[in-house]
Amino acid sequence: MDPIASLDSAMAEAPAVIEAASSLDELRGAESTLLGKDSPVGRVRRSMGRLDPSERPATGAKLKAAQSAITALLEARRARLEDEDEERRLHEEAIDVTLEAVASRAGSLHIIQQTIDEVVDTFAGLGYRVAAGPEAELGWYNFDALNTPATHPSRLESDTMYLDWGRPEDEVLLRTHTSPVQARWMEENEPPVYVVAPGRCYRTDAIDATHLPVFHQVEGLAVDSALTFGDLKGTLLHFAREFFGPRSNVRLRPHFFPFTEPSAELDVSCFACDGADSGCRVCGGAGWIELLGCGMVDPNVLEAVGYDPAELTGFAFGMGPERLAMVRHGIGSMRSFIDNDVRFLEQF
Ligand code: PHE
Repeated sequence: MDPIASLDSAMAEAPAVIEAASSLDELRGAESTLLGKDSPVGRVRRSMGRLDPSERPATGAKLKAAQSAITALLEARRARLEDEDEERRLHEEAIDVTLEAVASRAGSLHIIQQTIDEVVDTFAGLGYRVAAGPEAELGWYNFDALNTPATHPSRLESDTMYLDWGRPEDEVLLRTHTSPVQARWMEENEPPVYVVAPGRCYRTDAIDATHLPVFHQVEGLAVDSALTFGDLKGTLLHFAREFFGPRSNVRLRPHFFPFTEPSAELDVSCFACDGADSGCRVCGGAGWIELLGCGMVDPNVLEAVGYDPAELTGFAFGMGPERLAMVRHGIGSMRSFIDNDVRFLEQF
């Protein structure tokens, strides 16, 4: 066939052949069919040398035109097939992020633990360290070292739970307060002392609105060279304002504890009515809320742990996080803390 005519027919066929290639592999096949050695274009390319010189320019121009037209079609098709390929892969490998995740419900710390953490944080902010002691305690630390004689009524089995453990003379019991941590800390550490000791305590109380046989306390102890009753009051005023709000005030009423002298109970002014509402639901109209026990560390306690009462003074306090939480949140009964009713617990 005349080379020009065969190039014309190759160009005419090219679009259909290229269009028919439905993958990149097939397109490579189409490329060799259209431009390879045995293609019409390839044959004309090889025959150029044998052509009559007069025919060469026109045939050469036609060959170049055919090659570049076919190459352009191949490139366009390749680009489309590559796009389609990518499109398909994106589709096949897509992750369906619309599927609803199975969310696990997050719980929260118990309101008593939250209260303990908050109290401890306040004192940590004043430089107090955190101390701990055993819940199964020796009579020595729970009572004797704390200036509480063997005849004291709180030592009776009607108040204190004793454990059938160790030597009988050890008198192992479930601690009735966190105050034994005072004695343990001072025995182990040199003054000055600034510690708080949160923990669980036990008494033979029947469960009612204001008593649980297992409850918590946060103990505080400061011993230094010149601490006064004013330091005690200032420290607890700071705590009251942190916990109940900056307008709070405190007052101290005389009381008795064997391990402090003088001893006092601390009241905080009512954060709900400020003493102005005789029918207040929080303070019952008294204007004051009873909060905790405290006092100056009795010199006998300092002596029992090997401190010199001539050199050192200190103050101590013990508060109940259950009571703090009840006052602040208007919780009517201590039973709520141990009922494990999620409707109560998830409010905090
Ligand atoms: N331990 C006392 C109680 O349980 C509270 C207290 C602690 C009082 C420290 C004075 C000093 O009631």
